[in-house]
Amino acid sequence: MCGIVGYVGPQPAAPLIVEGLTRLEHRGYDSAGVAVLGATPGSAVRVAKRAGRVRDLQDQIPPRFAGRLGIGHTRWATHGPATDANAHPHTDTAGAVAVVHNGIIDNATALRALLAEDGVEFASDTDTEVLAHLIGASTAPTLEERVVEALRRIEGTYGLAVVHADFPDRIVVARNGSPLIVGVGEKEMHVASDLAALVRYTTTVAHLEDGELATLTAAGFSTFRADLSRTDTRAHVLDIDPAAYEAGEADSFMHKEMHEQPSAVERVLRGRLDERFGTAHLGGLNMDARETRAIRRVKILGCGSAYYVGQMGASLIEELARIPADAEAASEFRYRNPVIEPDTLYVAVSQSGETVDTLLAVEEVRRKGGRVIGLVNVVGSAIARACDGGMYLHAGPEVAVASTKALSTMFVGFALLALQLGRVRDLSIADGKRLIAALDALPAQIQQILDREDELAAAAQRLAGAESLFFIGRVRGYPVAREGAQKFKEITYRHAEAYQTSELKHGPLALISPTLPTVAVVPDDELTERNAAALHEIAARKGPLVVITHAGVDLGGVACERIDVPRSERELDPLLLAVPLQMLAYHAAVALGHDVDKPRNLAKSVTVE
Ligand code: F6R
Repeated sequence: MCGIVGYVGPQPAAPLIVEGLTRLEHRGYDSAGVAVLGATPGSAVRVAKRAGRVRDLQDQIPPRFAGRLGIGHTRWATHGPATDANAHPHTDTAGAVAVVHNGIIDNATALRALLAEDGVEFASDTDTEVLAHLIGASTAPTLEERVVEALRRIEGTYGLAVVHADFPDRIVVARNGSPLIVGVGEKEMHVASDLAALVRYTTTVAHLEDGELATLTAAGFSTFRADLSRTDTRAHVLDIDPAAYEAGEADSFMHKEMHEQPSAVERVLRGRLDERFGTAHLGGLNMDARETRAIRRVKILGCGSAYYVGQMGASLIEELARIPADAEAASEFRYRNPVIEPDTLYVAVSQSGETVDTLLAVEEVRRKGGRVIGLVNVVGSAIARACDGGMYLHAGPEVAVASTKALSTMFVGFALLALQLGRVRDLSIADGKRLIAALDALPAQIQQILDREDELAAAAQRLAGAESLFFIGRVRGYPVAREGAQKFKEITYRHAEAYQTSELKHGPLALISPTLPTVAVVPDDELTERNAAALHEIAARKGPLVVITHAGVDLGGVACERIDVPRSERELDPLLLAVPLQMLAYHAAVALGHDVDKPRNLAKSVTVE
């Protein structure tokens, strides 16, 4: 979704800002823009913006677009279509103020009407332009006061950055529900909505809190609240490798991230397994054994692929801890006025920690007195901070829109949670140890699947020709099928539908034909025979079949393309069954010539409802 970049310092601002915007491209956007300010008070704000890619913007920037202070934006359209006029930055009528904004101003329509009565003519359809006019109309002595005055009149969410011709030494930024990170350089300051735009320049950063504002000058930054009282938010040095944000030699971020899964899984396990007692230690849950034992139900909340992994997690918890557990799409949960039970543990799961539907679901539970823990990848993100406790996934930065390595760490995170919940209940120490051995083996087993990329690529190329596909599975295999279909449709733009294998006969079998392939998930478990019978029903109707299964499983000689994955303990099988489905989607998308990292219409972090 939308992205913000800003710079003030000794260097020409525009090239730095444009470079930063390219680092945010993966988040999904449909237009981009930049504004720079000369050093003399009153010199006009210069703006270049247009619908399309950042490289289109780059081509449009005039050679003399000078200025050592500026702001930039990538827009994902909400209010008004993706046009040049609707791209950010937005300016006031005099062209003195420029604003970039992530989030939504809920009372924009009413404010537009009021401003129009005062004679303001709007240049765009956006909610953000309102802010530019409100700031432009203020006569308060400082830019900080002008911004605060304008913010008092708006309702909604924002991460925003403002420059003003009369205050050419500073950028004022503000955060309420949409992340902003200040980056501290040598006699220069940066700001961005995502670390990806900063790490090339600095790893000394300060995360703003909701309700906080900051002033950035070349000399440093200071933070304050809307009543202008100072806050003491400090910068700290992040322990991250900037190279993790680069695709390097890889063809794409998605390819690189799929191949990082063994190391990501190692990291999420590190220091969390207790071999002696056959359990997991998740200190960050902030719950003692007594509180853990008192849990009567687990409800998992996430969106998209995180929701599907949540379903896998619910099975793990039911199987290992024998606690009733289910997963629900966080985007639906809040709207049905859910009953919040005191002895239910709510678990929010999110890669970005920014997904607004998941965040609002967490806030709904907490408002009603429920306890929520988070399984989150991005450290310090809004969801991580909104929860009562939780665990970080340590997958490292995930740049490709289609989630892969973060999902694998989510699955392992749920396995650790299930183990800890199980071991304070009835899971035996022997079973605990059995699972620990299986968890330890996962990185090498994932690697074995990744090593068979050529075989998976060949199968994917055959699937790429189909307009429509089924992905089927049962019980543990069904969320795997859902996630496989999701990945396939996201990046190939083919219709991929997940079904319970058991439900085929109740309707969808009518669609089976030689042009509609089925990808079937058939683990070696108590349902294998029944699954094999369903495969025969598909083959009898000449439906092409790709079967993800285990070596030695007897499929009764059905005609199919078979992909055997290594065996884990049954409870952990879903992870190893899901990895080849990522590869199938990836190679089908490549065969179709799509940009796998930036699928159309999608954004990496969905920060609007
Ligand atoms: C699928 C995908 C999305 C996300 C979903 C939740 O590949 O990436 O479905 O899983 O938007 O995002 P997070 O995990 O950031 O909350």
